[in-house]
Amino acid sequence: MRGLDQDEGSIAEARRNAAQAGVADRVTFEVRDAAGHSPSGARGPGLAGRYDLVCAFETIHDMADPVAALRAMRALRAEGGVVLVGDEKVAESFTAPGDELERLNYGCSALHCLPSGMVQRPSAETGTVMRPATLRRYALQAGFADVEVLPIEHDFWRFYGLVG
Ligand SMILES: C[S@@+](CC[C@H](N)C(=O)[O-])C[C@H]1O[C@@H](n2cnc3c(N)ncnc32)[C@H](O)[C@@H]1O
Repeated sequence: MRGLDQDEGSIAEARRNAAQAGVADRVTFEVRDAAGHSPSGARGPGLAGRYDLVCAFETIHDMADPVAALRAMRALRAEGGVVLVGDEKVAESFTAPGDELERLNYGCSALHCLPSGMVQRPSAETGTVMRPATLRRYALQAGFADVEVLPIEHDFWRFYGLVG
């Protein structure tokens, strides 16, 4: 298994957690842009077509270029491989006033996710409140044929299977 994040501190923590869990010989973590770029700007090592499961947990909405990341994830799949995205379970569409969860997610977005996703330019400026229709649009632009909301019930998370 290989894990990517562009934040060095997060990767250091992931490595510590893997060591503590006794699985460091089976997982590797790299500081890398999910779109395939290393901090030096180099393209990733030949990872394309190698993975049965490619996941992005609570991160697509943070990305300046979510379409590029989804395109890279699509390319990582082995034949028959699956792409799974987990992200906040926000409402299907805007309502005012939103419920408590919607307001919490807007707060997280305004205070953290949206500004952090706008550091890099240009930016999709998504933020925490990424509606299912927004992810679908990104996925189709990245080359996927469809997005399924998976039948996994959770108060806070929604899981998407990206196909095609
Ligand atoms: C809310 S955190 C989630 C971290 C982790 N996936 C988890 O589930 O605990 C969002 C993460 O996305 C990372 N991130 C944002 N844009 C990225 C990109 N283009 N490539 C790789 N990581 C990115 C940030 O560094 C941050 O660690």
